[in-house]
Amino acid sequence: MKYYRSHALVCVDPECLAKGAHEVLDALQDELVAQGLIEEVQVLETSRIGGCANGPELMVYPEGVHYAGLTVDDIPYLVEEHFLKGRIVKKFLAPIPKRVDEELGPPQAKEVRVVLRNCGKIDPENIEDYIAEDGYLALAKVLTEMTPEQVINEVINSGLRGRGGAGFPTGKKWQLVRQAPGNPKYVICNADEGDPGAFMNRRVLEGDPHSVLEGMIIAAYAIGASQGYIYCRAEYPLAVRTLNIAIQQARAFGFLGENILGSGFSFDIEVRMGAGAFVCGEETALMASIEGRRGEPRPRPPFPAVKGLWDKPTNINNVETYANIPQIILRGASWFASMGTERSKGTKTFAIAGDVKRTGLIEVPLGITLREVIYDVGGGIKDDKAFKAVQTGGPMGGCLPAEYLDMEVDYESLTAAGSIMGSGGMIVMDEDTCMVDIARFFMEFTQDESCGKCVPCRVGTRRILEILERICAGQGRHGDIEVLEMLCEQIKNTSLCGLGQGAPNPVASTLKYFRSEYEAHIYEKRCPAKVCRALITYEILPNVCTGCTVCARNCPVEAITGARRQTHVINPDICIRCGICMQVCNFNAVVVR
Ligand SMILES: Cc1cc2nc3c(=O)[nH]c(=O)nc-3n(C[C@H](O)[C@H](O)[C@H](O)COP(=O)(O)O)c2cc1C
Ligand code: SF4
Ligand code: SF4
Ligand code: FES
Repeated sequence: MKYYRSHALVCVDPECLAKGAHEVLDALQDELVAQGLIEEVQVLETSRIGGCANGPELMVYPEGVHYAGLTVDDIPYLVEEHFLKGRIVKKFLAPIPKRVDEELGPPQAKEVRVVLRNCGKIDPENIEDYIAEDGYLALAKVLTEMTPEQVINEVINSGLRGRGGAGFPTGKKWQLVRQAPGNPKYVICNADEGDPGAFMNRRVLEGDPHSVLEGMIIAAYAIGASQGYIYCRAEYPLAVRTLNIAIQQARAFGFLGENILGSGFSFDIEVRMGAGAFVCGEETALMASIEGRRGEPRPRPPFPAVKGLWDKPTNINNVETYANIPQIILRGASWFASMGTERSKGTKTFAIAGDVKRTGLIEVPLGITLREVIYDVGGGIKDDKAFKAVQTGGPMGGCLPAEYLDMEVDYESLTAAGSIMGSGGMIVMDEDTCMVDIARFFMEFTQDESCGKCVPCRVGTRRILEILERICAGQGRHGDIEVLEMLCEQIKNTSLCGLGQGAPNPVASTLKYFRSEYEAHIYEKRCPAKVCRALITYEILPNVCTGCTVCARNCPVEAITGARRQTHVINPDICIRCGICMQVCNFNAVVVR
């Protein structure tokens, strides 16, 4: 076998050919002969190297150098420089493809980035990048110019409410902790983000960890704490790593530890890994977990502000709540309060998922309408289908129908409509969604995550799930709707913690707004969205079927019969409703009924 020191691969895909790849290839070969290199460099044709957009393209191995946009005239210089002198010719290099950030694209119209302002812009592992963006300036201001009471008043005046779910006024919470008797006092950051599909907090922790640390240090100064904990979901290893690096750097720069910035105030932070259960995000369960006990909620009062970690006054806030603080201190309470509604100020991050064109993370001023979020920021419904519902607030949130599209997104409106703000999950559903199936899906999650400590949640969610499973399986009975309504009410009113209290929301809201779908399942044995397998049948339209046999050959259970060029027929007794025939038929002859 012949040995070559270099291999030069020229893309000969149609696009590159159209731009002169063959001419470049011939010129390359001729030039290698001319410069006496043809025995050392092998020229080969290959398919697609880059995207062909910048063709003709050339890849040189073993060094893996990618050239693009070459012309015949470029070749003598390229051969001399690269293959003779061993120098990479920078001006011919293919442009490095721009990395697409699928979580956080460029801000869309109507987005305002406060919490996410640095994400994707600064190096989260370099504290100097954060400092260059006015990082730790708010801390310096607080320590040199403000008393703890002034800090608390500024946060109260901003109108900031907790971003972890319940929306309790943050400044008020700080005041309660400051006034509570007992020492030491603790500051906790709740970074246990467990809602399926939610990653707002992860992105801040991974992209701008110092904004959270700075918010926590300011909180500690305001309430008089000397130790803080970040309880971070263990499934976020990068966030844990980034936080630990940030903490070390903040210590090295004198923002954490003894005598911060020479002010006499001392405070330090430790990261604790979450225990893996959704309920550990609930504040009392979280504190039990930090203490090394089983992460189970306990009754409140006493609230953590009075009796928290190791029975001491404790301030617990969400990641996003803390990340807002430095900006409030720097830009002032009135700037923050100028965004939002009467009672819900500032911005909120949301993770939009589901049947929307642009999924991912967004940050919008509160008070924006659901329609603006879904259509202006999210780009509208995928494939231009009709909007059916939006589920806000994670697994304990409700599903809102089209008549709420013009509702302003704020804590009170969402709660009044039967949903919640939650931590910012937003799942958009199109016309093909079965709302009974959606309620079943969320109930499966909360039922699974119930810690089992209290009976209404442990047993009640199981009963609801059983009924929903039966309805979706075509075995709904008269009276099911009424039993579901009764269970929802009782579980909401008697459960110990927010998980049980919120778990009925997806069921109660779909019963309220999409009752006819439940009725169709139960009384007509029909799934209007054609999702629930037990309630649908697949049929082949005789006048459309060409008898191509593709469906019969792909059916996994041989439920389809018919000779070639004859109409095919599905035997419903054998059919397992997998939908494969519908996917493979090239003539759209298979339909669901
Ligand atoms: C089941 C359950 C899970 C929760 N998970 C979280 C969570 O992952 N992150 C969070 O900040 N708050 C979560 N919360 C809310 C917390 O109990 C608490 O209200 C919040 O951390 C307070 O911070 P905030 O005032 O900044 O919102 C959860 C509550 C419940 C009932
Ligand atoms: S409501 Fe559910 S999760 Fe909360 S304590 Fe009761 S059983 Fe546990
Ligand atoms: S739905 Fe599945 S099982 Fe039923 S006929 Fe089509 S391919 Fe066969
Ligand atoms: S086999 Fe009947 S249309 Fe495909």
